[in-house]
Amino acid sequence: MVQPFVRPGTPNLADYRAARRDFTWSQARGWLDGLPGGRGLNLAYEAVDRHAAPLRDKAAIRFVRSDTEISELTYGELAEATSRFANLLAELGVGAGERVCTYLTPRPALYVAALGTMKRGAVYTPLFPAFGPEPVAQRLSLSRARVLVTTAQLYARRIAPLRDRLPELRHVLIADADTAPPGTVALDAALRSARGRYEIPATDPEQPALLHFTSGTTGRPKGAVHVHDAAVAHYASARFALDLRPDDVFWCTADPGWVTGTSYGILAPLMHGVTVVSVAADFEARRWYRILDRMRVTVWYTAPTAIRMLMRYGDELPGDYDLSRLRHAASVGEPLDAAAVRWSTATLRHPFHDTWWQTETGSIMISNFPAVDIRPGSMGLPMPGIEVALLARGPDGRARVTGGAVTPIVEPEVEGEIALRRGWPSMFRDYLDQPERYAGCFADDWYLTGDIARRDADGYYWFAGRADDVIKSAGHLIGPFEVESVLMDHPAVLEAGVIGRPDPVAGERVKAFVTLRPGERPTEPLRQELLAFARLRLGGIAPREIAFEPNLPHTRSGKVLRRLLRARDLGLDAGDLSTLESQP
Ligand code: WT7
Repeated sequence: MVQPFVRPGTPNLADYRAARRDFTWSQARGWLDGLPGGRGLNLAYEAVDRHAAPLRDKAAIRFVRSDTEISELTYGELAEATSRFANLLAELGVGAGERVCTYLTPRPALYVAALGTMKRGAVYTPLFPAFGPEPVAQRLSLSRARVLVTTAQLYARRIAPLRDRLPELRHVLIADADTAPPGTVALDAALRSARGRYEIPATDPEQPALLHFTSGTTGRPKGAVHVHDAAVAHYASARFALDLRPDDVFWCTADPGWVTGTSYGILAPLMHGVTVVSVAADFEARRWYRILDRMRVTVWYTAPTAIRMLMRYGDELPGDYDLSRLRHAASVGEPLDAAAVRWSTATLRHPFHDTWWQTETGSIMISNFPAVDIRPGSMGLPMPGIEVALLARGPDGRARVTGGAVTPIVEPEVEGEIALRRGWPSMFRDYLDQPERYAGCFADDWYLTGDIARRDADGYYWFAGRADDVIKSAGHLIGPFEVESVLMDHPAVLEAGVIGRPDPVAGERVKAFVTLRPGERPTEPLRQELLAFARLRLGGIAPREIAFEPNLPHTRSGKVLRRLLRARDLGLDAGDLSTLESQP
């Protein structure tokens, strides 16, 4: 029989009700140091420099490239390397507010660039390394990036061919290379000649620090702007929801090219002074269990898709590994089904604690906490300091706003749009260059999330679905419009409609329906050509499946009705359309 796990020590959040009542953000501000001399608050100072002396020789990040290639950076080394990067930016004339992007798989240069950028007061923007040239070019251009840190290979394959589309991109720094292609600079050599001491300039807590791109249903990707004050929420949520303690070894499996990998793969754990595990290798069940075992991981933050992949490898496999050091396991990014929670409780002796948040919220908003009973399948309870409401919806499926006012639902078990009372420290402060779109996310005093949920009589939130057409595949948010636009660039395609098709492991997979131009024939070779075309341009967000569709359904205003496409694809008739809104 599996022995029940007994949690050692008392969780950081021992009394949820008391914390809900008493916690304030100003109390959490007191848990951080602030810049010396009262010169403000800087994320990188909290994550690195304040630990540089007391934790000088402690491993800050352990990099696992393979079983035999493991390296580490201590807090002392990280402080020095990030100072060199900040000095390099200064030499290059890159100042406060300017965007620095990384387009890298996990490696030391990514962490050094991210934190060095924030030290400088510039704005860090991660780009997902599996993105193809189209999504990367678009984000580099929208952010008007000044600096890009990438590898020689990614540069040659995906950036060099479109560099003339990026006039604002002044400097390309090539990581892990002795020589750099023409028009770029070798990062290592440049860092070696930069100074290893850097005094972080005064930083207003409201100064932008991070720009994270996220996708909507229509239009271009949205650049969510986060400020240095977000540090307060990163720190507090990692303390309450992830239960981080100073001696922890923490593994966040999210790629650092997305918001989870920044908030919880870099910033929050380093602020807590723990040792972070960073894995470059692809998912493989045995490798993952081996990492938990050999790295002696104590707190693990992963995603439902990964958990379902582990489940497929069976219940016996974990028994071959020593997972006894694991103390807390949590999940994020997509619905965590009750079966996955029960599986992990039985086979790993740990229930996964679901957490809910978004790029825009910057940190965990709703969570199952270590000291509170889990309701498998539920996202949990609001974080201390966060006020959550469910808002009554109008016919378009979104919260109904009448005369600027919204209606919070008070009775239990009624679905509504999740809203958060504005004002928490990691709330996004803008969508870059799209102030109307930003303003449109708020009504009354509430930020409207676009997610639909219900609340049970004890206050637990249960995810029901999204109010819009964005696709969630393996935890990644994909905008259908971005995929459709690329397909419509192909000369044979007249129009495209893109949906998420339910998938037992990834949650959803991208599926495209295309209408061909007159004279084009819907042949198998053409289908293969379109798949390859999309793959080449979009990379990891390309459709897995393409179907020819002579008649795409349209709204009266002429937009492709993705909801109806999805209904048809699921074998529902149009009459069932209204029920689709509540499908995860
Ligand atoms: C969307 C946000 C979470 C940060 C990384 C992704 C969905 C997130 C859950 C959950 C069900 C979830 C929502 C949300 N989502 N967590 N625990 N249960 N759905 O951030 O890319 O901005 O995606 O992911 O739909 O709005 P993101």
